[in-house]
Amino acid sequence: MKIATTIPEVRAQVAAWKKEGLTVGLVPTMGYLHEGHASLVDKAVSLCDRVVASDFVNPTQFGPGEDLEAYPRDFDRDCALLEEHGCDLVFHPAVEEMYVPNAATFVEIQSDMPKQLCGQTRPTHFKGVCTVVSKLFNIVTPDKAFFGQKDAQQLAIIRRMVRELSYGIEIVGCPIVREADGLAKSSRNTYLDPAQRKAALVLSQAVFLGQRLVQEGERDARKLVSAMEAHIKGEPLARIDYVSAVDGVTMEPVERIEGDVLVAMAVYIGKTRLIDNFVVEESAL
Ligand code: PAF
Repeated sequence: MKIATTIPEVRAQVAAWKKEGLTVGLVPTMGYLHEGHASLVDKAVSLCDRVVASDFVNPTQFGPGEDLEAYPRDFDRDCALLEEHGCDLVFHPAVEEMYVPNAATFVEIQSDMPKQLCGQTRPTHFKGVCTVVSKLFNIVTPDKAFFGQKDAQQLAIIRRMVRELSYGIEIVGCPIVREADGLAKSSRNTYLDPAQRKAALVLSQAVFLGQRLVQEGERDARKLVSAMEAHIKGEPLARIDYVSAVDGVTMEPVERIEGDVLVAMAVYIGKTRLIDNFVVEESAL
């Protein structure tokens, strides 16, 4: 596996692959990789001839007072995981390589979509995500790019950005990977002390409860969300940021569980904000 820290190095390698007629997959990450990221790399390896992973903690997607400085980093461990899973090139740029001084060009969806769900408490987050992802698309020019369903709003926003900016890139969404006890894998799980780690199970428990209620026929979004909230509120270490049922494409709140619906949540366990979700597909109703 090659390591590139500059944009020209990535461009040269990708150009050489394309000259050979090889397809390229991109797995964008912020590092501190876990099995969720590994599943994205595995999927990319299965669908593309060559796989590039980016490992970059993107400052523009963190708001003031968020965990940019504290965000966990372990590049050597990341490289070992990426190599083991068949990644061909890791792009690990410095902030100065990705952002010229006083950069003032951003990519932003100007609708309510990035203001829903996580956007309520992280109003600039998706502007930073769209900007860095579109830069990575321009640098790597992949055929396919791989994103986790755990960040469901991010996935929906990137699909829209790709459609509206005419990127010729296929976006592949990959399922949530969970610990054996249900907790969705996240780099932020590392912040949790043992009591918080136990308390964090309320998120996946609320997901499983919500899925069961829908299976049993609950179609009233408010009742569904209330039942999930009641479960989370039973955990003293948990504080709800939001639990919402939204349209799976537009992220607009829904009243009925009909069509493709995303039921998503963000919950603070101590100071750590965790997210989880499930999708109800129309075909399953
Ligand atoms: O999902 C993430 O880890 C990040 O938001 C992404 C897509 C790598 C952009 O920095």
